[in-house]
Amino acid sequence: MNNHAPGKNAVSQRPSESDLLSRLQFAEALARTCGELAIRESAQLSISAKGVHDVLTQADLAVERHIRDAVASAYPGDKVVGEEMGGQSDLPDYADFWLVDPIDGTANYAADIPRWCISIAYLRAGKPVIGVLFDPVINRMYTAAEGHGAHQDGKPIKARATKSLQGATVELGWSPRLKFDAYLKNANALMQAGGAFVRRGSGALGLADVAAGRVDGYAELHINAWDCAAGVLLVNEAGGSCNDFFTPEGVRNGGLLVASTAGMYVSLLGLMTK
Ligand code: IPD
Ligand code: CA
Repeated sequence: MNNHAPGKNAVSQRPSESDLLSRLQFAEALARTCGELAIRESAQLSISAKGVHDVLTQADLAVERHIRDAVASAYPGDKVVGEEMGGQSDLPDYADFWLVDPIDGTANYAADIPRWCISIAYLRAGKPVIGVLFDPVINRMYTAAEGHGAHQDGKPIKARATKSLQGATVELGWSPRLKFDAYLKNANALMQAGGAFVRRGSGALGLADVAAGRVDGYAELHINAWDCAAGVLLVNEAGGSCNDFFTPEGVRNGGLLVASTAGMYVSLLGLMTK
């Protein structure tokens, strides 16, 4: 029995291709206003702790509120799931919805380190079909739509052609959700294979770096769906490869993410799952 088959009604109400592309334009304009809002909010920073090494700023909440209000006004029937205000618990499997991270790289944002972004994705039948990442600090806009390629500031981007971990640069993400031992094991294995690792605190921008050919891979043992929805689409549309993260389980609870150049994917997946 397949519990995860999309219902017939859901399919008939799905946005058409031109509706999807108009959502892409809407998301791009929205991401820009979110970036401006986050920059304004940074002048009067108010930080609280969600957990050890896990912070929440007033800006995270203000930006998510802004996104929810904008979607409600432009697309009143659309559902929004976000990092700070949730919404995934009553979502049917394989639904159509917006999945947003108001600020990815919040710890960097709170520490005035210029490595954070706004991530807005639209999922059709549970899979990202539109992805927008905006880095307001350096004014870089990444956009992707399924079947239409990945772009940085309107210009097509491509993942690298790297085939081997030897000489590759891979960002390994880590969060306090997991113990550090497994991270160290993977970092060690990568170095033993002749690669190099970095950790820069924004999973979304790490994926954009893979899509734009600045690094060879991004991997994290547990990441949440809002962190990677737009970025995974960027990587796939830029000719890279990602694991099948967007299952109902991945959307609800997060999980392993491996994204890299197409030629290195099997090696990086093997390293992360050994
Ligand atoms: C985190 C960042 C980090 C990644 C974590 C995320 P946040 O998101 O993307 O790079 O390693 O898994 O939770 O807390 O900055 O929105
Ligand atoms: Ca995030």
